[in-house]
Amino acid sequence: MDIAIKTEHLTKCYGGVAALDSLTLEVKKGEVLGYLGPNGAGKTTTIRLLLGLIKPTSGRAEIFGLDAAKDKVAAHRRIAYVPGEAHFWPSLTGEETLHLLGNIHGKVDQKYRSELIKRFRFDPNKKVRTYSKGNHQKIALIAAFSARADLLILDEPTSGLDPIMGQAFRECVHEAKANGQTVFLSSHVLSEVEALCDRVAILRSGTLIELGTLAEMRHLSAVTIEATFDSKPPVVKNIKGVSGLRIAGNTLTAQVHGSIAPLLEVLTPARPKSLLSREPSLEELFLSLYGEEQGVRSE
Ligand SMILES: Nc1ncnc2c1ncn2[C@@H]1O[C@H](COP(=O)(O)OP(=O)(O)O)[C@@H](O)[C@H]1O
Ligand SMILES: [Mg+2]
Repeated sequence: MDIAIKTEHLTKCYGGVAALDSLTLEVKKGEVLGYLGPNGAGKTTTIRLLLGLIKPTSGRAEIFGLDAAKDKVAAHRRIAYVPGEAHFWPSLTGEETLHLLGNIHGKVDQKYRSELIKRFRFDPNKKVRTYSKGNHQKIALIAAFSARADLLILDEPTSGLDPIMGQAFRECVHEAKANGQTVFLSSHVLSEVEALCDRVAILRSGTLIELGTLAEMRHLSAVTIEATFDSKPPVVKNIKGVSGLRIAGNTLTAQVHGSIAPLLEVLTPARPKSLLSREPSLEELFLSLYGEEQGVRSE
């Protein structure tokens, strides 16, 4: 069996609306799959179906050949899960919580766990009630990675972590992969997924719209350019690679695929007083790639 996750037309409806619509997907053993989508796309719904926490309206999901809904207990033996917002028992210490979670998992790599406590700069001696959101997240991550489970299911796991911890998280994913573990990583941050994943699946409004390797998805790489002028921005029309153009007051925002030089040639003669280049949010990227409007949006 070299398939870790298999879904067939997996569908979940709430009140007649599909939160997840006919998802058909395979994740190979040892693969790191990025599961991308803006808020409300259906990522958590997919994960809850994979964990058997909710029942599909139609279709099915398998974890290592086991039915996710019917063989939940057996499937869970192979899984470690990190929710987007972890909450633990307030009166236990961090150490006690990790111990308890280890017992639930059944197996713990103690040496690796000690290393992760150091790596995440986690102080396990305090009571859980005194921990910040980031510390709750660290407990969940340390417990999940030190379980050395065959399949890691991570639901936006870095929310609440600062960038240094984000780096520690990346190391853990690399090590899990080197160890032959499979990782299902949900995220709404393109750069995180780009850095870690073999393949990327992109979900929008419950529907899988893209699936492939990063090389196959180069068209997704874009930068957002934001330029502010003393008066109305210059007219930007028919420039190669530019999409999602928006004018709000004296500020122009656009997504650029490929070189930004052609756009800068139009912007700089108008002497922008500030110019910003950043990674687009998934929402912006989706709007530029799949939005119905191709022209300028004024606000
Ligand atoms: N228990 C529920 N009852 C009703 N609607 C829900 C429920 N859970 C999720 N949804 C809806 O399903 C859609 C997908 O949500 P979710 O899977 O949480 O998205 P994501 O994790 O990608 O942000 C959203 O529109 C959300 O409002
Ligand atoms: Mg979610």
